[in-house]
Amino acid sequence: MDTRDYRRAIGSFPTGVTVVTAYDTDHQPWGLTANSFTSVSLEPPVVSVCIAKSGRVFPTLSMSGHFAVNILSAAQRDLALHFASNVENRFTDTEWTAGHTAPHLPGAAAHLDCIVHDRVDAGDHEILLGRVQHYAHRSVPPLVYCRGTFFAAPQTEALT
Ligand SMILES: Cc1cc2nc3c(=O)[nH]c(=O)nc-3n(C[C@H](O)[C@H](O)[C@H](O)COP(=O)(O)O)c2cc1C
Repeated sequence: MDTRDYRRAIGSFPTGVTVVTAYDTDHQPWGLTANSFTSVSLEPPVVSVCIAKSGRVFPTLSMSGHFAVNILSAAQRDLALHFASNVENRFTDTEWTAGHTAPHLPGAAAHLDCIVHDRVDAGDHEILLGRVQHYAHRSVPPLVYCRGTFFAAPQTEALT
């Protein structure tokens, strides 16, 4: 398979954009940009995100019992790039709050605080399943990603 062409094929699928965060054993914040986020189950509330095993954040996410999913707003495009960059400590020049059990990025469209439900080995990634314990959301346009480009989703009210 031509890997670059394959990436173009799967990149045709539009997604939202998240920053997944956790604390390491020294309570230092870690986080990375991830668009592999999916809501898996409503009863119980379980979400998934796929984390590259080769990444610097993987050791923290593979050991922590908790993580948070920050669903980015359209205004947070620069944060999406920052948390995908090679910056040594992504939280140094970033506004963040402690959250319930993992760091939160203020201004996000939604926050989900999760306890690890399960981990599934999947090739060069691990599927991290989290049971949502707390959540919050705001009526701001979410950030969308497709074919390597960021877009703003239209302003809509949350579904009732
Ligand atoms: C829009 C976007 C979505 C991404 N989605 C994921 C993802 O779902 N899982 C993943 O492991 N990396 C994903 N990445 C790549 C990581 O954010 C990037 O490789 C980051 O540098 C990894 O950080 P680390 O090496 O500190 O772990 C994505 C990058 C971008 C720009």
